Amino acid sequence: MRNRVTVLHGVNLDQLGRRPSEHYGDLTLTRLEQRIGEFASGLGLEPRFFQTNHEGEYVEELHRAADYSDALLLNPGAWTHYAWAIRDALEVAALPAVEVHLSDVGAREEWRRASVIGDLCLGTVAGKGPDGYRDALGMLARDLAETGH
Ligand code: DQA
Repeated sequence: MRNRVTVLHGVNLDQLGRRPSEHYGDLTLTRLEQRIGEFASGLGLEPRFFQTNHEGEYVEELHRAADYSDALLLNPGAWTHYAWAIRDALEVAALPAVEVHLSDVGAREEWRRASVIGDLCLGTVAGKGPDGYRDALGMLARDLAETGH
């Protein structure tokens, strides 16, 4: 059964709980991962979590991801908006992926509107806080069910 989802948190996501709560709420990354774990088990998915503040480590995780994942859920943080190496690595991973952001990136500064990974993803969920991860996992669960063997 194809149900293994790697959740890749990027730069500064380990600082949740200390970042502006009007954008990011007040959950720590640990609590957010607990919520994602609950959403995932409700959908029959098995999550695996990864976070780094180093772009090269994020890239290398994408290189490895296909060995132990059927799908990817990415919140690269600020890298979303300019890190072309992450886009290239996502292309290498060649797995169904969804982009998620806690905050409403389309309604903030102009530079947050760009995404280097958006067109490689099945969809993007933004501005829904932690619940956005449930929506994103739902998209992946549907895709895995439709394309599964
Ligand atoms: C973010 C949005 C990014 O613009 C920002 O740099 C982040 C978090 C979000 O989840 O809303 O670090 O990806």
